[in-house]
Formats: sequence, C-alpha cells, structure tokens
Amino acid sequence: MLIFLRRVHIRFLGMLEVFLLLSYKLFYLYFDKWPICARSNFAKKDLLKVHQNTKNTLYEQYTSNNASTITKIQIAKQDFDFISHLASILVLSNKTSDYNYEHGLILFSFFSDFLRKNPSKHITCLEIGTAKGFSSSILSSLLCGEGRSGNVFTIDPIHSERPIFWNSLSDSNGKKSRVELMKSAGLKNNIMDKITFLRGTSSDILNRLSLSSIDFAFIDGLHTYSAVKAELQYVAIRQNKGGKIILDDFNSNMFDGVVKAVNEFCLLRDYECDIVDFVLDESRKLVIMTKI
Ligand SMILES: C[S@@+](CC[C@H](N)C(=O)[O-])C[C@H]1O[C@@H](n2cnc3c(N)ncnc32)[C@H](O)[C@@H]1O
Repeated sequence: MLIFLRRVHIRFLGMLEVFLLLSYKLFYLYFDKWPICARSNFAKKDLLKVHQNTKNTLYEQYTSNNASTITKIQIAKQDFDFISHLASILVLSNKTSDYNYEHGLILFSFFSDFLRKNPSKHITCLEIGTAKGFSSSILSSLLCGEGRSGNVFTIDPIHSERPIFWNSLSDSNGKKSRVELMKSAGLKNNIMDKITFLRGTSSDILNRLSLSSIDFAFIDGLHTYSAVKAELQYVAIRQNKGGKIILDDFNSNMFDGVVKAVNEFCLLRDYECDIVDFVLDESRKLVIMTKI
C-alpha cells in the first residue's frame, strides 16, 4: 500500500513539474513578443548599433539649420544628446524594427516653447501611458531646468516599484523597477521627485484624480476610441487658454479609434489642432491641440 501511494505521489509530482515548466515556457513565449516585460535576451552590441544608426539620422534632421525636416523642429545639440541617451535606456528594446524616439524630441520642443510662453511658477502636466518613463523624464527635466515647481502625473497599469524585465539595455543583469530603470538612465532625485506615478488604467485613475488644472498633457495610453475620448474630455475641462494636449499615434491604419476621437474633439471643442509628421516613419504622426 505504502509503495503504491509513493508511486502515485511521484507520478503526481512529475506531472506537476511538466505542467509548471510548460506554463512557464508559454508565459515567456507570450511576453517575449511584448517589448515591455520581456527577458533581456539581446546582443547589446547589435542593439547599440541600431541606436547609433537611428541617432545619426535623427541628428541630421533635428539639429541642422539646413535639414529638410518635415517637422521643422530644431533642437540644440546638447538637448538632442540628452534625449538620445534617455531613449537608449527608456525606449530602445529588442523589438528594433520600429525603434524611434521622435515623439520625445517633438515633446521636448513643444514643452520648452510652452514654458517660454508661460511664466507661471507652478506647472501641472499629465501623461497617460508611462511605459518606461521616457516622456515623463523629458517633461520633468524641463520643469527642473526652467526652475519651475509643479508635477508630472503619469498613469499606467504597470507598477513603478516592483522589479520586472523591461527589455531595456539597463536590465540585462536582472529585473528593475521602473524607478530604478529611470535612475539607471542618470535621472537625478530632483527630476524623479517631480514625477507622480499613478498605477491603474486611465478610466480608473481619472475617476478619482482631482486635478484642478492641467497645463500640458501627453496622451499615449490605451489607443481606443472610448479611452481617448474620455482622456481628452478630462483634460479639456481643466485647461485654460493656451493649454496644450499632445497625442501620439494619430494613424488611421493602426489606431482608427484614436483618429475618430481626435477628429470629433477638434471639431467640437475650442482647440486649434495641428498635425506633426515624423521623419523616420511617414505613417506616424502627433497631434498638437492648443486651447483657444
Ligand atoms: C506607447 S506606451 C507609452 C509610451 C510613453 N508615453 C513614452 O513616451 O515613453 C503605452 C503605455 O500605455 C499603457 N496603458 C495601456 N492601457 C492603458 C490605460 N488604459 N490607461 C493608461 N495607460 C495604459 C501601457 O501599459 C504602456 O506602458
């Protein structure tokens, strides 16, 4: 009897082991396709080559006086280098086919311009969709650089304090929390302190986030019609004249819900809407909405 029970026990443990191993493999097979939360299994050298190539092309387009840039945005060399460095840690991943960080360059340019025209000391920014914290780092760095008080509130369902794989050059030695990842990109405490990470979906968080005003918003979260419509509404009723909303991925082939929500918003609301084309990817566009 005892021998029989022992055999059943061993067989059960064996099956459990196979089941756990299969689940683990399936889990990684699934998540490796997703640039965030994937184990970092790339060759650093190849990834840095991709980064350098992209950097060279963007450098030509965004820093030269004579560059035939579609966006007509010009960025000082040291600012370009700073954003490129952030991108190498907070954007670059082994999903290299569409590596591009122009949204950071465009955001930097429009937010610097916004700050130049807005002398108020306290500035409130809202970002929907934090990911690895690239855009919130840019906004917060500019606030610090210009000596402004204020906050960058940034919303994402992914935790900020829990260590995970981000598929970044910086977590090749092990999991990092979002905050650790951002600090590994060289972001100092004064920049991190201005960023408030809010964990959850925008619909959950915005329901209970009582911001009285929003000067500058960057919408880049769940790219559906209903989410973008609700996010635009939340921001619009909290903005004064001159307030800006920037929205990424205005692309009807990939995100028709985003395009529909933005078109309706620009038609009905008191906002002036401009589209900015990307240099590296013709299909990718940003929308800049300014309250009038
Ligand atoms: C394109 S990434 C954001 C990139 C980031 N803004 C940047 O510039 O580095 C989209 C992010 O939106 C987050 N997200 C997905 N659904 C969301 C939701 N309902 N509300 C807020 N964020 C969401 C994802 O977890 C992901 O990190």
